[in-house]
Amino acid sequence: MFEKILLSNPSAENPSSLRPRKGIIIGLGQVGLACAYSMLIQDCFDELVLQDIASDKLEGEVMDFSHGMPFIPPTDIKAGTIANEGRNADIVIITAGVAQKEGESRLSLLERNIAIYKKILADVVKYCPEAIILVVTNPVDIMTYATLKITGFPSSRIIGSGTVLDTARFRTLLAKEMDIDPRSVHAYIIGEHGDSEVPVWSTANVGGMKLVPNTWADLPEDEKATLSGIFQKVQNAAYDIIKLKGYTSYAIGLATTDIVKAILNSQERILTVSGLMTGMYGIEDVCLSIPRVVSERGIIKTVNLTLSEDEEKLLQQSAKMLKEVFDKINY
Ligand code: LAC
Repeated sequence: MFEKILLSNPSAENPSSLRPRKGIIIGLGQVGLACAYSMLIQDCFDELVLQDIASDKLEGEVMDFSHGMPFIPPTDIKAGTIANEGRNADIVIITAGVAQKEGESRLSLLERNIAIYKKILADVVKYCPEAIILVVTNPVDIMTYATLKITGFPSSRIIGSGTVLDTARFRTLLAKEMDIDPRSVHAYIIGEHGDSEVPVWSTANVGGMKLVPNTWADLPEDEKATLSGIFQKVQNAAYDIIKLKGYTSYAIGLATTDIVKAILNSQERILTVSGLMTGMYGIEDVCLSIPRVVSERGIIKTVNLTLSEDEEKLLQQSAKMLKEVFDKINY
């Protein structure tokens, strides 16, 4: 209808070197929506497909997002499925699954979410065989491991959002206490994204100054209390937020976007994503978070982080707990 207004130039070619960056988000609950919004406004993809089983809601969300396009860099956003519009996506972001209710642990969601994943992943294997899969659904470490087993993809291409968010919470709360920018706080949360996560106090630093200069036992009691209190807030953050607003969404959306940007821009950033352990700290055949280098080929390196004896023990316990849960599942 607009051919007379916009005259096409028949000699124009599609430059083959400019490959569109394509993503698909599967599951448009509060987390999927926050991911989509954050990825749109941060100009992550040329093409972003949203998939959900609630088709009316999906259509409404896509309409709503698309009407905002004049305000941001363009993304071709559409509703679809892996089997059609989502084919050959570069990154498949999965947030689908049942959500955590008040007081419920992330691990209790498991069986229901594995069943949902089996269906989704069969299509991913078929239609996006080269994709990097970014697992966000909880319990994320177990879902990441299940994704690895179900797809048979190389472990470099299966990334769980892991403790990227917990690390952000940790840095934020420490920064607040010290009244500085959280980006200047270097401190990691590793292990399970959940109750058994581990704060790495031994390397936590601000401007090169260690927060725990010697051992934890050497710290004055008031400092111990302050730091423990901060970690407890990190550990309980999701429970606290869910109690207040029913779900968590914005920060996990931003955390997931950060991982997507590290992949698409091949940033080689160090992020505490969840991935397969292959013997470090004596831990193997389980997925959990440690600092890893993320680039366009997925997880390309692991930081050989020296932990204190206590931290290593706690990490091993976290791994053991995750393994025990996984061994109980039929997938
Ligand atoms: C949280 C959810 C994403 O920690 O597990 O907010």
